[in-house]
Amino acid sequence: MRRRRIQLTGDDQLFVLTGAGISAESGLPTFRDSDGLWKGHDVLEVASAEGLKRNPELVWDFYSMRRRDALAANPNNAHLSLARLEEALDDRFFLLTQNVDDLHERAGSRRIQHIHGNLFTSRCIACGATFSDTNSYDVTKGSPKCAKCHGAIRPDIVWFGESLENLDSIYRQLARATMFVAIGTSGSVFPAAELVYLAAKRQIPTYYVGLESPENADGFDEIRLGSATSLVPALFAHI
Ligand code: APR
Repeated sequence: MRRRRIQLTGDDQLFVLTGAGISAESGLPTFRDSDGLWKGHDVLEVASAEGLKRNPELVWDFYSMRRRDALAANPNNAHLSLARLEEALDDRFFLLTQNVDDLHERAGSRRIQHIHGNLFTSRCIACGATFSDTNSYDVTKGSPKCAKCHGAIRPDIVWFGESLENLDSIYRQLARATMFVAIGTSGSVFPAAELVYLAAKRQIPTYYVGLESPENADGFDEIRLGSATSLVPALFAHI
């Protein structure tokens, strides 16, 4: 059964939110699929400031693995179709991703913001220097240090309980949107999970595309169940 394409008019402003589900078919496991575990460790042990203090080698082992996996992965048709849509809509398109991988960028997306940070950026805890970093580290030689001040460095990722940056620009983009589409996110982590309710308050149409109904399903006008690569490419009737 072919689904109706979402009609975009000439002055529609599209706000798209993606989660780990859009990268799943590129081979990157989602958080919920991994049941929050990694090599038997609670994800909070390997993805938190406390975990970094307690065992920096374990945290860098985890993020080195995630970097290797993300570098070996390729953008899939869902990433590519969002990049094509951005080309067609230009500044009437905005992409917010909860993902820290760079598959959207490698697919060609430019009008993008990472709400939870970026896997390929590191930050020095001592001097605050932030730098692009695709390294996976051999933690048997200890955890990596800042090239500038030799302080401890961490992935530039927002861990649970840490504050998010640039929320204002996200809310400004949502305030100008005439349509909200979320793809491949369980709707379980705030403030990203709240965006659909803010969109619904503005009475703009809200769509969800994903394998299963999200926790914030009540915020969506329409839910289309299926995989990102099967549904996203045919989602929009190009203007
Ligand atoms: N196509 C579409 N959706 C999919 C696919 C797929 N191939 N595979 C899985 N999904 C859906 C799942 O049904 C699930 O609803 O993607 C969603 C992934 O949910 P999560 O694993 O919770 O990922 P996400 O919503 O991005 O998590 C949000 O939580 O762990 C933190 O900071 C982390 O950014 C992450 C945030």
